[in-house]
Amino acid sequence: MQAVFSEKLFQLKVILWLLTACWVVAQDEDIVRTCTDYKTSLFVETQEFSLLYEGAPIIRKTRDKCKAYAPVIIGGAPAIPKEFPHAARLGHRDDEGKVNWFCGGTLISNRHILTAAHCVLSFEGTINIVRLGELEFDNNKDDAQPEDFGVQSRIVHPGYDHPVIYDDIAILKLDRNVTFNEYKHPACLPFTDGRKSSSFIAIGWGQTALVPRRGSESSKILKKVKLFNFNTRCKLTAEINEELPNGYNASSQICIGSHESSQDTCNGDSGGPVLTIHKQYPCMYHVEGITSVAVACDTPDFPGMYTRVHYYLDWIKKEMAKP
Ligand SMILES: *[C@@H]1O[C@H](CO)[C@@H](O)[C@H](O)[C@H]1NC(C)=O
Ligand SMILES: *[C@@H]1O[C@H](CO)[C@@H](O)[C@H](O)[C@H]1NC(C)=O
Repeated sequence: MQAVFSEKLFQLKVILWLLTACWVVAQDEDIVRTCTDYKTSLFVETQEFSLLYEGAPIIRKTRDKCKAYAPVIIGGAPAIPKEFPHAARLGHRDDEGKVNWFCGGTLISNRHILTAAHCVLSFEGTINIVRLGELEFDNNKDDAQPEDFGVQSRIVHPGYDHPVIYDDIAILKLDRNVTFNEYKHPACLPFTDGRKSSSFIAIGWGQTALVPRRGSESSKILKKVKLFNFNTRCKLTAEINEELPNGYNASSQICIGSHESSQDTCNGDSGGPVLTIHKQYPCMYHVEGITSVAVACDTPDFPGMYTRVHYYLDWIKKEMAKP
């Protein structure tokens, strides 16, 4: 009896090990490594010291400062300082220097911003200014380090074909490198396709370019909201129209929604991220989705469609590698 049991247990262990191995193999090595490098560059402190005799070895002591930020509340709340150092706000600066901020984005390297194609090709104007390190606009006393960057190039996914909103993904290359600190630091690309994530965090200052909110007024402070994975529900709720001629595409889109009916917290900025927290590093986030088709925010349980970033990893890596 005992022997049979332990053999069964062994078999179970082998199966579990194989499953884990497959899962690990399925992850993209470069992306995993880059993510760890980003985390280490900011959250791991190395101190070197040596004892006071000649030829004493150098001793290195590392301190890991990576810890979780404030919990994300369902229904939404203002972000706290340094909570989302990858949050970008994108805008158009006219000849007189007046800026119209109309979309969000995510810092994913020291030079690149991930956003939506419909933002880059928006009727609001060409994105020529990117603000990083911001928390509350028009407030100099908040704990933030805002810095504006110009845009060197804009890469829109070749599959994007307005007004159809499939392949709603684009990359901006900034005009100079971002120096990382606690206020400006990238999010990691996703390790998985997000199908197993039950919830996400959407952030933004509150622009929705596609469906303007009733009485819409953007927020000055960055906000966060917890949203849920509605899986294939979008197959039923997505209206077939000129924007979505084939309805919801589960390979390239994530179906995410809220159970609340709060208008100003049902999603983030168009082009901005939906995030998950890194499983080992609670200070790091993955950008799993890009806010794409905004939905009527006053209808609870009516999910929206977000670009599934994982589906586009090869394209993103290829474009980021270009000089
Ligand atoms: C900008 O960053 C890239 C990639 O990290 C690096 O190769 C390059 O030397 C940097 N350029 C400057 C001017 O620091
Ligand atoms: C989903 O999109 C991909 C990429 O554009 C495409 O190859 C695939 O056929 C689409 N699937 C459906 C069911 O439309």
